Amino acid sequence: MAKVDNEIRGRLALVTGASGGIGAACARDLWQQGASLALTCHKNRAAADALAQELSAQDKSRKISVHVADMGGSAAELQQLFLDLETEHGQTGPDILVANAGYGRRIPDILDIPLEEFEYTLRVNLQAPFLLAQLSVPHMLRHGWGRVVFVSSIAAIGGGLMGVTRIADTATVDAASKAGLTGMMKNLANKHAHLGITFNDVAPAMIGDTGLIPDEKTVEGTPGDVKNIPVGRLGVPQECANVVTMLCKTGYMTGQSILLSGGLK
Ligand SMILES: NC(=O)c1ccc[n+]([C@@H]2O[C@H](COP(=O)([O-])OP(=O)(O)OC[C@H]3O[C@@H](n4cnc5c(N)ncnc54)[C@H](OP(=O)(O)O)[C@@H]3O)[C@@H](O)[C@H]2O)c1
Repeated sequence: MAKVDNEIRGRLALVTGASGGIGAACARDLWQQGASLALTCHKNRAAADALAQELSAQDKSRKISVHVADMGGSAAELQQLFLDLETEHGQTGPDILVANAGYGRRIPDILDIPLEEFEYTLRVNLQAPFLLAQLSVPHMLRHGWGRVVFVSSIAAIGGGLMGVTRIADTATVDAASKAGLTGMMKNLANKHAHLGITFNDVAPAMIGDTGLIPDEKTVEGTPGDVKNIPVGRLGVPQECANVVTMLCKTGYMTGQSILLSGGLK
């Protein structure tokens, strides 16, 4: 019989998009749980470096590395990320993968969406999580333990907050990519459940203190106005991190997409 092992202490977590709001909160939380960290950023290295410094000042016995990687880049770039991770941490892949980096541009009319925009969004939001999972699984299989969490979106479920309210300001390609992510997660969860590796996603909506939604003012008068959110406020990145950590600590849960939306559907 497979044994219960939900220990995070001593694991290595790779968190992509750790320079952003949700990624940084996930990194902080996993660090508090005793994991070592490999953090990625793209354009904002300063934020990832500051986070690494903040956390390593709390505990010098564990390692944190920072890597610059374009999730919209080539497969070779992500392979290089894993070579760098091995150099820094002495293992070929992470025990925990939080594929959080994401990109989405709102272009109201389908006729205005260039194919390049479609392809780039799919590369960042879907191809990169696929490649990261593909690169992570061999190490996880060798150890019979792994946790993969994708950061999806409410857009995967209802087509996007803007879409359901018929406001013509929908991130069409973002919705497509995030729905693809959830489909891929469910498939990989089925295939790896008996091998000690779980796959889940968290699907947030209206999380403030992020690059996407800095504060309430940015969504005032839009469908995302806090007046429209049943719990009456924006979510905070820590709440997303709570779900990610719960998924990492709960090996009996796999193949689930968890909507974190303050009651929005
Ligand atoms: N906030 C919400 O309400 C909400 C709702 C639905 C889904 N999400 C999802 O949550 C995830 C995190 O977003 P966030 O809300 O924390 O926003 P954020 O603060 O803007 O963070 C986005 C992160 O993604 C990274 N990133 C973007 N494009 C990248 C690329 N091409 N290559 C590598 N990294 C890239 C950014 O890196 P740099 O800053 O270093 O460039 C940053 O670390 C995303 O997947 C997003 O779709 C958020």
